[in-house]
Amino acid sequence: MPETILSICNLTKNYGRIRAVNDLSLDVNKGEVYGILGPNGSGKTTTLSMILDVVNPTSGTFTWFGQPPSHHQRKRIGSILEQPLFYPYLSPLQNLKVLSLIKEVPDTPSEELLKMVGLYERRRSKFSTFSYGMRQRMALAASLLSNPDVLILDEPTNGLDPQGIAEVRDLIRMTASRGVTIILASHLLDEVQKTCTHVCVLDKGKRLFAGSVQEVLQETVLVEIAAHDMATLQHALVGSPMIRSMELKQDLLLVNLAENISGSDLNAALYRQGIVLSHLVQRKKTLENYFLELLKSSE
Ligand SMILES: Nc1ncnc2c1ncn2[C@@H]1O[C@H](COP(=O)(O)OP(=O)(O)OP(=O)(O)O)[C@@H](O)[C@H]1O
Ligand SMILES: [Mg+2]
Repeated sequence: MPETILSICNLTKNYGRIRAVNDLSLDVNKGEVYGILGPNGSGKTTTLSMILDVVNPTSGTFTWFGQPPSHHQRKRIGSILEQPLFYPYLSPLQNLKVLSLIKEVPDTPSEELLKMVGLYERRRSKFSTFSYGMRQRMALAASLLSNPDVLILDEPTNGLDPQGIAEVRDLIRMTASRGVTIILASHLLDEVQKTCTHVCVLDKGKRLFAGSVQEVLQETVLVEIAAHDMATLQHALVGSPMIRSMELKQDLLLVNLAENISGSDLNAALYRQGIVLSHLVQRKKTLENYFLELLKSSE
């Protein structure tokens, strides 16, 4: 059994009449890079704020490392949700030293951390001279200061240039490869696809899907089909082992194929039953398509 790091159970957050997070449940296991993916306003930051005790849930619970949240466990969690306040007139090296005093971390490997986030060259510059991207990197270094078991990141590549994005993604993968479990929120599919092992798709605070990224990619052989008589076509596929699910969209039937079944297998089987397809298009299997389908079907 994998070790459960975070378990969220029926978490809900209302802001007045807005339900930011709606009955959310999910588990994050050790070693995963877990992406919370959703459009703007879908409740990602609110979820992260709740699990970091920054915001109180309206209802529901969560556990960290199998225990109710406590100050002690909080020390095992690094995050860049709450931006640490850096002193503008101090250098990154000095800032990390101050933070390690506050966080009571002995023997901080400040120089190593700065090398890791690509700020070593600027280790003696004042923080006030740092660009937005450099501040992001600094925040990442600070979050790794206490050698956390879990790292929580909210939109880690926001505002970075393409090189910065690639570097931060590398950094995430590198951190994960050192055994740190990572939970990140992102509205970028591409980011989740490239960096995460697992994903939970949120829309309007509700969970639409949770599972491994690999699984999503495997599961998304979607074909659009149509025939002269749509009712007969649909009827022929009810309970068929060749499909996982189907959905009628206007004049098309959108079919999610079972494992190892191709569009032509389906076509041949239907033909044997006397059904001639007038339309058969295989959709590209990307997380993006799957995600868009999920969002469409939840409308
Ligand atoms: N402090 C607050 N007071 C009132 N409403 C809030 C507050 N914080 C968030 N909300 C609302 O809760 C919903 C979810 O917001 P949240 O910031 O969690 O979304 P998000 O998925 O992080 O979005 P984004 O991709 O834009 O960062 C939104 O409708 C937002 O307006
Ligand atoms: Mg957010």
